[in-house]
Amino acid sequence: MCGIVGYIGSKKAHEILVEGLEKLEYRGYDSAGIAIFDKGQLKVRKYKGRLSVLREKLSKEEFNATVGIGHTRWATHGEPSDKNAHPHTNRTGDIAVVHNGIIENFIELKEELQDKGYKFVSETDTEVISHLIDYYFDGDLLEAVKKAVSKLEGAFALGVICKDNPDKLIAVRKDSPLIIGIGEGENFIASDIPAILKYTRNVYILEDGEMAVVEKDNIKVMQLNGKPVEKEVFTVNWDVEAAEKGGYDHFMIKEIYEQPKAIKDTLSPRINKDNVIKLDDIKITKEELEKINRVYIIACGTAYHAGLLGKVLIEKYVKIPVIADVASEFRYGSPFIDENTLMIVVSQSGETADTLAALRLAKKNNAKVYAVTNVVGSTISREADEVFYTWAGPEIAVASTKAYTTQLVSMALIALDMAVKKGTIDKKEYDKVLNELRGLSEKAQRILDNTELIKKASEKIYKAQSVFFIGRGIDYDVAREGSLKLKEISYIHSEAMAAGELKHGTIALIEEGTPVIAIATQERLYDKMLSNIKEVKARGAYVIALTKQGNEEIEKTADTVIYIPDVVDELTSVLSVIPLQLLAYYVAVMRGCDVDKPRNLAKSVTVE
Ligand code: F6R
Repeated sequence: MCGIVGYIGSKKAHEILVEGLEKLEYRGYDSAGIAIFDKGQLKVRKYKGRLSVLREKLSKEEFNATVGIGHTRWATHGEPSDKNAHPHTNRTGDIAVVHNGIIENFIELKEELQDKGYKFVSETDTEVISHLIDYYFDGDLLEAVKKAVSKLEGAFALGVICKDNPDKLIAVRKDSPLIIGIGEGENFIASDIPAILKYTRNVYILEDGEMAVVEKDNIKVMQLNGKPVEKEVFTVNWDVEAAEKGGYDHFMIKEIYEQPKAIKDTLSPRINKDNVIKLDDIKITKEELEKINRVYIIACGTAYHAGLLGKVLIEKYVKIPVIADVASEFRYGSPFIDENTLMIVVSQSGETADTLAALRLAKKNNAKVYAVTNVVGSTISREADEVFYTWAGPEIAVASTKAYTTQLVSMALIALDMAVKKGTIDKKEYDKVLNELRGLSEKAQRILDNTELIKKASEKIYKAQSVFFIGRGIDYDVAREGSLKLKEISYIHSEAMAAGELKHGTIALIEEGTPVIAIATQERLYDKMLSNIKEVKARGAYVIALTKQGNEEIEKTADTVIYIPDVVDELTSVLSVIPLQLLAYYVAVMRGCDVDKPRNLAKSVTVE
């Protein structure tokens, strides 16, 4: 996730661009840049670091430009650096492009362009766009952009300017947001409303597959094939703070709703049309894999809960024993680590001190280390041997949501990739799981489209002193995540239990009205879960059951039943966690808690 802005009018473009970028910094902040027409030239200024670095550098120059585009970056392809920062230009430096999204076929396009003699200066996927436009450009920017865009696969919102067409900005939207701000004698483009609110409240919201030619006094919107589109003006009545949250009350709920896209962004660039997983980021060979006889998956908190799925999937598909552990325990234990060990560390921030210490311990003992992280250029990503990025975009709420679901699908991709390389999974099973992975984003959206029942369930439990989450197998792992979510943002005591373990002590705490969230999605464990639900019901528990569609007879036993769409057992947690996140969120809001910044917590835990 990155932020893009564009301006065309008669004010100083660089000032408006930087102001706009400031309001988009929540979308990414590892580098920033602008391109403007100044004194007959296209000038690009772009720097690694937060926007303040760009602002400081710009303050040392005089510009009179009134047209330009800007970008604040959240790195996906290529680490944060001046070179990888946007805008990207063509070989003559006359065309500049800012991009938000991921170009899935950039490697093929890059090779084709290299064969035609184009030289690349960055590691980004975006640079193919500026060269492609250059390739098609014969004086008409719009036509060149149309042709270039027809070659792109993936998600993109683009802003393009060209020295030879200095009176226009071209804006393109496919699967990444883009709006056009309508001013008087000036117009704007932006990834999101806050960037332009100071200047106008009237906007066109581009739909997927639309593009626009934006001039000072004119805006033409069309489909990518050039067919004109009549747009309605949307008048924004949010204040700036609400606009930053996309109209949601909190970042946490916004991020919960971003999960379908985050899941898709993490998966689709890595699965090609023939169902082949392509992990360019993880280059382990079959021979190397065959030597590995033990895997450790090490992480903290929510990331650890995602790692637990990694254990299940690697053991099942790759047939290697896996130990999943919390980093703070692992680092002071006596683990067996040698050159035949693979460690997978999972960390949203890539900075968590205990996880980093575990990584260093593994490296010191010659193990190979994979990192699964959301932050390009983070310490963990730099120190690991191989890095798999979750492309969830910046997560601002302290409680992790979209990072977790993308970590889960990453675990599945890594396990399947290893299994294919080692030859330990049969084609039928592989195809089945892969097809189910592809369907997850749409199923997640279905859950988010229908939340009434979850709201009602939250009303039943928000005054509770203590809540129990129970499950078996993968459901127990997701129960731990649901319980953590609830306790960290609502401050209600909660505990996750392996359902079969209840009767060995904890059931003593169940009394009349105690809420128990029972997760029962695993087919082979379903009857066992029904028995566990009956056990707690018999002691007076109020049971909210979470199960797959099709398991309706559970309604005879539980007080409330929340359904997730049917999905293969191995991937249920990607869906079942969503109602649990929502439950925690609604409960916390009902209790008046500071949802985005829960007490005593920090987003990145860089101390032991
Ligand atoms: C809980 C949460 C934390 C983090 C943990 C690890 O909602 O966010 O439990 O998961 O602090 O952080 P990362 O993933 O940055 O290493």
